[in-house]
Amino acid sequence: MTSEHLRDENELYQIINPGNYEGLKKYESVDIFSKDENGDRVLIKPAGHDTGHKQLFNSYDNTLINLYIRLEDRIALIRNTQNQLNIELRNSLNINVPKAKAILTNLVNVTLSEPRTELLTNIKETIDVMLKEYLSNPEVVTHLVQVSIHDYSTSLHLTNCMLFCFGYAHYEKYDIKDMKELGLSALLHDIGKINIPDYLLQASRKLTDEEFTLIKNHTTFGYDILKNSGFSKEVKLATIEHHERIDGSGYPHGRKDLANSSKVIGIIDMFEAITNWRPYKKEVEPLKALKMIKKSDVDRGRVDGKMFKSFANSLVGMKVRNKIDI
Ligand SMILES: [Fe+2]
Repeated sequence: MTSEHLRDENELYQIINPGNYEGLKKYESVDIFSKDENGDRVLIKPAGHDTGHKQLFNSYDNTLINLYIRLEDRIALIRNTQNQLNIELRNSLNINVPKAKAILTNLVNVTLSEPRTELLTNIKETIDVMLKEYLSNPEVVTHLVQVSIHDYSTSLHLTNCMLFCFGYAHYEKYDIKDMKELGLSALLHDIGKINIPDYLLQASRKLTDEEFTLIKNHTTFGYDILKNSGFSKEVKLATIEHHERIDGSGYPHGRKDLANSSKVIGIIDMFEAITNWRPYKKEVEPLKALKMIKKSDVDRGRVDGKMFKSFANSLVGMKVRNKIDI
């Protein structure tokens, strides 16, 4: 057993409610730690070893002790689980809606369990309610399933954007109805990508101008898919407006007068894409991503500066003293 002083409290992530030995199995490939009385970390199960180690349990009542893993392991584990869920999703179709619904719920919950913002943790119950409501609509489930099967990273992008939108809506004190509309608009904004060949979406090289022109069509494709549906005007507009910019420099039409939800999603869409890994690029750390967007889009008047600031602040939760200075 080794004991090592923690240099940074944030290095470790507490495993919340693994429940029992079975629940711990997914942690088999990573180191598991406990903390001693000085708060120093103690390695109690090395990566690759069986999790049935008796040091994981209190000797007097046989319950699990507080267990921790490295933060980076947590993120890697979540990615694995998401991949796994997506494979299940592919297998559960053609189209078994209740099963697909359960898997999608799981997908969002796993995404949500990734350490993100304090604010999102605070509104977890609201998010659960929203999600339940979205997934009670078979049309939403069908669209999401189609996206997930076609391109895994798009479905992740959509759930992440939805979560960031909830954080933004909460920060801006939206009422529940508007929050629901914004979240749903985010969840469906890229559905037009199901009509874009997956080899283009997953390309790990720089796209040619022609290919990029083709990808841009996902906006009009998305609108065409939703235009005769029962979704609200905002949800439909988000598909065709999320790459438009308020100075007219966006695409597909160079429109300046955009729905508020489209403007917010446009900002969050950029942030999510920059901060997450893609086949063709590495992820950028959040603060750096915000600075990049400020320089490329806010300072040039392409996106709404006030919305951008609110979004940046929503990322760090409600604590005024923690506001990001950008
Ligand atoms: Fe898009």
